[in-house]
This record gives sequence, structure tokens and C-alpha cells, in this order.
Amino acid sequence: MKRILLIIFTSILTLLAGYIVFQDQREVPLEEVFPGKNWVRPIENLPDLKGVGAPTAKNCGNCHSEIYEEWKLSTHANALSDIQFQSELAKPSSPKWICLNCHIPLQNQRETIVTSLRGGNYFEPIQIPNPKFNAEMKEEAITCATCHVRVDSNTNESYVIGGSGDTSPPHPIKINREFLQNRCNDCHNETYTLNESLICSFQTGTELKSSQSQKTCANCHMPEIRRSFVKPSLNRPNRNSHRHGFVGGGVPKSFALYKEQVRLGYKPGIVLTNINFNEESIILTIENQFANHYVTSGDPERFYRFKLDAINQKGEIVQKEEIKIGQEWEWSPKAKKVSDNRIHGFGKFEWKVDWKQKNPSMIRYRFQAIHVRLKNNTSDYMQQSAENVPLSYREKVKHIQDLYPHSSIVLESVFDNKGQNRRDTKLEELFLRNAERKGE
Ligand code: HEC
Ligand code: HEC
Ligand code: HEC
Ligand code: HEC
Ligand code: HEC
Repeated sequence: MKRILLIIFTSILTLLAGYIVFQDQREVPLEEVFPGKNWVRPIENLPDLKGVGAPTAKNCGNCHSEIYEEWKLSTHANALSDIQFQSELAKPSSPKWICLNCHIPLQNQRETIVTSLRGGNYFEPIQIPNPKFNAEMKEEAITCATCHVRVDSNTNESYVIGGSGDTSPPHPIKINREFLQNRCNDCHNETYTLNESLICSFQTGTELKSSQSQKTCANCHMPEIRRSFVKPSLNRPNRNSHRHGFVGGGVPKSFALYKEQVRLGYKPGIVLTNINFNEESIILTIENQFANHYVTSGDPERFYRFKLDAINQKGEIVQKEEIKIGQEWEWSPKAKKVSDNRIHGFGKFEWKVDWKQKNPSMIRYRFQAIHVRLKNNTSDYMQQSAENVPLSYREKVKHIQDLYPHSSIVLESVFDNKGQNRRDTKLEELFLRNAERKGE
């Protein structure tokens, strides 16, 4: 009797252990681990496009030359080669395939295709080689086809998605303006926490909605311009076209790109609408008039530094004050937002600086708004852990302070005589200075 019981007992144990091993080794479908998340899979392989060939940006650029040149300057075109991205991607804690699904979102851009997860573990993606991999397209990151090309599931042919409709292109076209306008939210409106650390926290779409703005992302980030959609030699009429520079917060990805920001449509969202000099204090009013979403938006690391300096006749700073507008996060033991004083769309911020003014007629006041993309601390850390980064990017990460703009001055006003005279520095002048500045 005892022996039988022992046999039954060990059989159950063996079965149980087998089950656990099986669970651990089971190939779990992606959708089971990340239900309802469209970024869990890249967009399926796009076959060559009739009249174009491979749907690379370079090929589109053979005819859409000006749009191509603008896009090449955009953050989208640099979303893979970006050294901040490469540095974060290289962290052992990054589930790389997930990051790549937004930063290089087409299957054509991937050497391998993730089919499932071993035991449901996102650090153990099961991958098969992708015969349609296109190395050139991979480097193009958020390329034209991300927004404009899809495959017709009936004919298995690629087609272009357009927004206007009166044109007769040499490639298949379907008109779906709404699709193009809504596409931004797939990547710019997602927050996800994995294993208690934050994968992404972008709420720009929700922020925009909350201000009851009637505008779309493209209305502001792709300013209209009257021109031909294609190069002059194709003899097409001028139409309402859109700049493809996708300029955002005015801190570009390289110092050389500063000179393009204003041309491609950069303008600050905030305006210094009022400054009030009292006996004991100075009150500054800053309004978010032009962004409709929060300022700052997107990546939680970003913030504004507002600075007020009192400057004497010798040009020396005799008093200074500074405040930060942005989010504050705690990263360990788990990601958690601890504060947030950002300025909502159409909202305003009052900054009271408690200063007794000593000799007001002798003093000038200088207000500056500095948009910070990357903190000095963070780039120091990146530099220290550069050894993890692939060789082709490593040298750049080691010199990140010199190569990568961390912040930009986007507003500057100088006051004298208790605010009687106000002089605003021109954006063009500020951006010439920004190209020479380093650090946060
Ligand atoms: C051989 C030249 C050529 C190539 C290559 C080409 N296009 Fe076009 N495309 C055109 C022409 C011509 C038009 C029509 C322009 C007009 O009539 O004003 C057009 C129109 C368009 C339109 C607007 C359609 C509308 O009515 O809204 C979009 C969007 C577009 N192309 C995207 C692309 C993309 C994306 C690629 C690359 C995958 C590409 N094109 C490659 C020539 C080309
Ligand atoms: C497939 C994902 C994806 C889609 C779709 C997408 N974006 Fe982006 N976008 C990104 C990524 C990733 C970056 C940042 C890359 C980096 O910093 O390296 C970015 C950066 C930007 C920036 C630059 C922000 C800055 O300050 O530098 C703007 C502006 C922007 N996107 C606007 C748009 C608009 C408008 C649309 C829709 C027409 C759109 N995006 C669609 C992924 C996407
Ligand atoms: C009414 C115009 C307007 C609309 C609509 C708009 N933006 Fe912006 N956006 C701006 C302005 C202006 C800025 C620069 C704000 C600043 O830094 O002062 C900006 C900044 C950004 C940035 C950089 C944020 C930062 O702090 O660095 C991103 C990313 C961005 N927008 C994405 C989007 C997306 C995605 C949408 C649609 C969901 C959108 N925007 C809709 C005007 C707009
Ligand atoms: C992040 C998404 C996105 C990317 C990437 C993108 N476009 Fe567009 N494109 C749009 C949107 C949105 C419109 C405007 C549609 C509208 O409102 O009519 C547009 C419009 C166009 C048009 C019609 C003419 C115009 O200017 O309105 C052409 C042609 C075009 N894009 C070509 C390209 C080419 C070529 C590339 C790559 C070099 C590219 N696009 C990259 C979103 C994108
Ligand atoms: C849901 C889509 C999505 C996923 C997933 C995603 N990103 Fe991004 N990423 C974006 C968008 C959109 C931006 C641009 C945000 C903006 O400018 O507001 C961005 C920007 C960035 C930036 C630039 C920040 C800056 O201020 O310039 C880095 C670095 C980055 N992502 C790293 C990663 C890493 C590492 C992962 C994986 C752990 C990842 N991303 C996963 C969409 C995504």
C-alpha cells in the first residue's frame, strides 16, 4: 500500500514538474502577452510598389524630392541612428524587439520576425529570419512607408495612401486622409509599464483632446506650403502641400540641424504674456498659446527651465532665480510619476519671484525659457556605459556632450525701467546661439 502511494505521489510530482517545464517552454502568441497593443507586431512585409520599386524613402525621393529632403532632416528619419536611442536600446533591461516596433516599425526593416515568446517571457522572443529584409530601409527608421504604404490583402500588392485625391500618380493610390492624420497617435499616445519599468510614456494625443482643440498633429507639425508634390521636371501643378520636417520642441538631434528648425516650422508653444513689477516681487505670466497639448510633451525627461536674471550696468548677474516646468519621475524600485506642473493647452503659469529690488533703475531683467531634452546627468551616465553600445555608435556616445544638443533657449526678453521697455530676442538669433551652446 505504501509503495503504491509513493508511486502515485512521484507520478504526480513528475507530471507537475513536466507541466511547469512545458509552460516555461511554450511558445506563447504575442497577442496573449500584450492584448490590444498594435505595436506588438511590425507592419507586414511590403512588396515592391508598382512604378516605384522597393518602397524606400530614397525611391520616393526620386520624384518627391523636396519632401524627401525635408524628411531627411526630421527626427523621424533619425529615430534609429539617434545616439540617445542606441544608448538606451543597449541597456540589458531593454526588450529590444519592442523598442524597434515603434522606431523601425516595418517588417521590411527587420532582419528577423518575432513570432512568439518562449514561456510568455518578453526577453525570450522566438524569431525567424526575414527573407524580405531591406538594410537600406532599416536605416530610414520612420520612413515614408510607415505612414503612406500598405499591402492590399486581396491582391497582395502595395499601394500608397494619399490625402488629397485630385492627382494621377504613376503608383497605385488610395485616398484616406483620416488614416494619415490619425497615424501619429499609434506611437505618440501610448504609455506602457513592463516589469515595473517604463517602456514609454507619451500622452500627446490625449493631452490634445483634453484642450478641446479642433486641430490635428499634422496641422501644426506639417505646416502647409503651396508647391508641386513632385520635382519640377514632372510638370505637375502647385497644390496645398505639407512640410515634412516634423519639428517639435526645438532641440534637434545634431548641432548642424539648428539652422533648419525655424525654416521647417519651429515655434515655441509658450509666450511670456505679462510681467508685473511690485515692491516685493516680480510676477511673470507664461501662456501655452500655440501647442494645444501640454508643454512639455512626450518623453518624460523633457522640461522647461524658466530663468530670471537681474543684470547690473556692468553686465554682471547680481541676482538670479530659476524654476522647472515638467514631470518628475522616480525610477526605482518601480517607475512612478511624483509631480507634474506642465502647462496645459491654452493654460497659463504664474511665476512669482520674491525679490526686493534694490536699485531698480540701474538694473535690467532678463527672462529666458530653455527647453531641455537631455539632462547632463543622463548624458554623463550614457557616456559611462558606452561599452554596451554597438561599435558603430560607441565613439559617438562617448562624445555625446559635444555631438548632441541637450537644450535650446527658445524665448528671451530683456526689460529695463521696471518693465517699461521690453526687447524680445528674435528666434533666428537665439538659434544661431543655440548651435554654439552645450549642455542642459
Ligand atoms: C516615378 C515618380 C514617383 C515615385 C517614385 C513616387 N511617386 Fe508619389 N506621386 C508621383 C506623382 C507624379 C504624383 C501626383 C502628383 C500630382 O499630380 O500633383 C504622386 C502623388 C503622391 C501622393 C499624393 C496623392 C494624393 O492624391 O494625395 C502621395 C502621398 C505619394 N505620391 C507618395 C509616394 C510615396 C510614399 C512614394 C514612395 C513609396 C512615392 N510616392 C513614389 C510620382 C511618384
Ligand atoms: C511609427 C511610430 C511613429 C509614428 C506613426 C509617428 N511618429 Fe513622430 N516620432 C516617432 C519617434 C520614435 C520619434 C522620436 C525619435 C527620436 O527621438 O529618436 C518621433 C518624433 C516626432 C517629433 C519630434 C519631436 C521633437 O521634439 O524632436 C514630432 C514633432 C513628431 N514625431 C510628430 C509626428 C506626427 C505629426 C505624426 C503623424 C503625422 C507622427 N509623429 C507619427 C514615432 C512615430
Ligand atoms: C496647435 C498646434 C499643435 C498641435 C495641434 C499639436 N502640436 Fe505638438 N507642438 C506644438 C508646438 C508649438 C510645440 C512646441 C512646444 C514648446 O516646446 O514650447 C509642440 C511640441 C511637440 C513635441 C515635442 C514636445 C517636447 O516637449 O519636446 C511633440 C513630440 C509633439 N509636439 C507632437 C505632437 C503630436 C503627436 C500631436 C498630435 C497628437 C501634436 N503635437 C499636436 C504645436 C502643436
Ligand atoms: C509620420 C507620417 C508620415 C511620414 C513618415 C511621411 N508622411 Fe507624407 N504625409 C503625411 C501626412 C499626415 C500628410 C498630409 C495628408 C493631408 O492632410 O492631405 C502627408 C502628405 C504627403 C504627400 C501629399 C502632398 C503633401 O505635401 O501634402 C506626399 C506626396 C507625401 N506625403 C510623401 C511623403 C514622402 C515621399 C515621405 C518620405 C520621404 C513621407 N511622405 C513621409 C504623413 C507622413
Ligand atoms: C509605442 C511606441 C514606442 C515604443 C514601444 C518605444 N518608443 Fe521610444 N519613442 C517613441 C516616440 C513616439 C518617441 C518620440 C516622443 C516625443 O518626441 O515626444 C520616442 C522617443 C524615444 C527616445 C528619444 C527621446 C528624446 O527625448 O529624444 C528614446 C531614447 C527612445 N524613444 C527609446 C526607446 C526605447 C529604449 C524603447 C524600448 C524600451 C522605446 N523607445 C520604445 C515611441 C516608442
